[in-house]
Amino acid sequence: MSSNIQPGGVPVLVLKEGTSRSRGHEAQHTNIEAAKIVAESVRSALGPKGMDKMLVDNFGDVTITSDGATIMKEMDVQNPAAKMLVEVSKVQDNEAGDGTTSAVIIAGELLTKAEELIQKGIHPTVIIDGYRLAQEKALQTVEKIALPVDLKKQDFLKKAAATSMASKLVAEYKEYLADIVVKAMLLVAEKEGTKYKVDVDDVRVEKKTGESLKGTSLINGIVLDKEIVHSGMPKRVEKAKIALLDAALEIEKGDYDAKINIEQPEQIEAFLKQEEITIKAMVDKLVAVGANVVICQKGIDDLAQHFMSRKGMAAVRRAKKSDMEKLAKATGGKIVTNLDDIAASDLGYAALVEERKIAEDKMTFIEGAKNPKAVTILVRGSSPRMNNETERSIHDALCVVRDLLQEPKILAGGSAPEMEMSKVIRKYAESLPGREQLAVKAFAEALEVLTITLSENAGLDPIDVLSDLRSRHEKGETWAGIEVLSGKVQDMSKTDVFEPLTVKKQILKSATEAAMMILKIDDVIASQKMKSPPMPPGGMGGMGGGMGGMPGGMGGF
Ligand SMILES: Nc1ncnc2c1ncn2[C@@H]1O[C@H](COP(=O)(O)OP(=O)(O)OP(=O)(O)O)[C@@H](O)[C@H]1O
Ligand SMILES: [Mg+2]
Repeated sequence: MSSNIQPGGVPVLVLKEGTSRSRGHEAQHTNIEAAKIVAESVRSALGPKGMDKMLVDNFGDVTITSDGATIMKEMDVQNPAAKMLVEVSKVQDNEAGDGTTSAVIIAGELLTKAEELIQKGIHPTVIIDGYRLAQEKALQTVEKIALPVDLKKQDFLKKAAATSMASKLVAEYKEYLADIVVKAMLLVAEKEGTKYKVDVDDVRVEKKTGESLKGTSLINGIVLDKEIVHSGMPKRVEKAKIALLDAALEIEKGDYDAKINIEQPEQIEAFLKQEEITIKAMVDKLVAVGANVVICQKGIDDLAQHFMSRKGMAAVRRAKKSDMEKLAKATGGKIVTNLDDIAASDLGYAALVEERKIAEDKMTFIEGAKNPKAVTILVRGSSPRMNNETERSIHDALCVVRDLLQEPKILAGGSAPEMEMSKVIRKYAESLPGREQLAVKAFAEALEVLTITLSENAGLDPIDVLSDLRSRHEKGETWAGIEVLSGKVQDMSKTDVFEPLTVKKQILKSATEAAMMILKIDDVIASQKMKSPPMPPGGMGGMGGGMGGMPGGMGGF
């Protein structure tokens, strides 16, 4: 494959020996198949009736999730075209925070429909052009039907946050958690004119196993999963002046083994005395600048602890770097790397620093900080696995609230927007000439995959639901959708299922872009290194174990 035979019979070698190459229809077909398999693998996770996935990594660690981005990340996909769909979920996660499963499913369906058209002899470029036109129409349609949200009232923020959690393991507690998520986001949001500036990273999530998620709480400050180091130190310091240290409060051991010859007992004493003096000088420096709390990223020597407790200081050691940065932001303090340079102006402030017992562990709470833009959600699920999935679900919900604060427009869910877009695009297609018309229509049909998947996952007949919804939208029922908990086709704007416009627009963009990118490829040149292991028949070689099992024809990679 990597050479051409010239008329003279001399082969011209262009590519390295062992390089494999597939071109034209073959390349397109294999790429599309691979991407479809990936999309297929997340389908059953969509919506509140969707199933969860159990992912086992190479170390045997188990993750249980229904979060599209997490499933895709953990799947360890090898095939390059399939990897592009993994990218879709990443882009979706970064840009909107929710909607990752939908984006992948729609991208997969756009490719399925494209393949049908290619088989009918329509050139991929025509399909790509058609998809581009249809995507524009889709975006215009959702913009048009989106409902404005009054941010003074929190009801829609809560509904959208709850909807994003409805499809997760935490669904039972979605209202309770949505309330916390909205409160947390509003505490850290900054109003700039009529707009909001928000950063989801200002809301921290700490996890501690507890009785149930009902025990989850919002703390107006930062929680460190650390205890106060010494029993003689105060467990509660009000009006805390906090020193943030990235320096050890101990005598640093040199890089070389030092050998000290001691011949007389007095010398040992002098040596120890010197050590004591050095450590005491460190603590004295902290006292001199007025610190009554010390949060140290490194270790704190026993002797230092002793001196500090005598001065009534509280201290935490080995704090995480990320926590230190948050603390600096929240308390207005500076992280000091050299104790000699510390000044009173480097200290941060918090109204209260307190050690509290949570479950079996002790945690340190830093509340009422100078800058209130740091809040913590303390998750108390019944197991570490539950806590991890809760953290992921809270992340989605925080993003949804952020999206709404930045663009206060909302859509009802249950595939109502997709059905409406589908109707508008189908009508639009009729105004176009032959081949493009087919591509635009294919896009309209692909959007219906959401209705089909939501219905399938809820055990409903997708064909019945789809035809009912099509005819309702034809009659002008913009918000007709499928409410999967009741299993009824209904006006979704009368339910509590709402999603931000931002998420939907991003789904359309990321799904269409990925499909177009895969369709554009007609030549796959793979170096020998990329060759995948021999393929067992029948698709996925097990989640997490890699996607070695692509269907036949993928051997070129
Ligand atoms: N009660 C409901 N009835 C019908 N549809 C619902 C209901 N609740 C949520 N949905 C729909 O479920 C879809 C979201 O499902 P899900 O959260 O599993 O996937 P996603 O948001 O696309 O991806 P992910 O959350 O994994 O990033 C949305 O289309 C939403 O409208
Ligand atoms: Mg979701």
